[in-house]
Amino acid sequence: GTHVVISIIIAYLLGAIPFGYWIGKFIYHKDLLTLGSGNIGTTNTFRILGKIPGTVVFVLDILKGTAAASMAYVWGPLPTSQHYWVLIIGVVAVIGHTFSFWLNFKGGKGVATSLGILLAYSPTLFVWSFCFFVFGLLISSMVSVASILGFLMSSILFWVIDDTILATVCSILMLFVVYLHRSNIQRIIHGTENTIKFGLPYWIKK
Ligand code: G3P
Repeated sequence: GTHVVISIIIAYLLGAIPFGYWIGKFIYHKDLLTLGSGNIGTTNTFRILGKIPGTVVFVLDILKGTAAASMAYVWGPLPTSQHYWVLIIGVVAVIGHTFSFWLNFKGGKGVATSLGILLAYSPTLFVWSFCFFVFGLLISSMVSVASILGFLMSSILFWVIDDTILATVCSILMLFVVYLHRSNIQRIIHGTENTIKFGLPYWIKK
């Protein structure tokens, strides 16, 4: 019905809000698209602008995914068998984030916004995925590796707990996120990917 179409449009518009880019441009007068990795996400915001804006962008990029996905609950009582609508509307927000009309249909890599969908779908699974991401960060010191590993481990968990729709959506998002990380993957292969001061490899080198 109409409510689905309207929700999809609003989800795209929400997802397309380039928080990192705008905070960089309007508050710090720095263009994230041309600095560091050129990404508008949390990692590059931390890298170029610092901890506070990095945290703000992380929270806002998560919440726009949560807000978009939660619209499915506003339609009226959603039978458990139709909770996949939360995921579908959320994925539209991720697409908005990665192909934002504000940025000539460029955008971020979709990691935080995907986490946001999960927060709307199941806070418990959100915590699990967040822990997988932190684990990835501890063993690699690379946010890109942690992001991809987080998606991989989450997909496995969702298949194991037998939530077929969530597992399918997560697996598809994982392929999309791997594609969006192709420049990072090139750098990982060449041993030039950015590392952060968090995790075993950094402390071992030190
Ligand atoms: O969330 C994106 C992250 O996985 C990598 O960011 O800036 O290092 O390309 P970046």
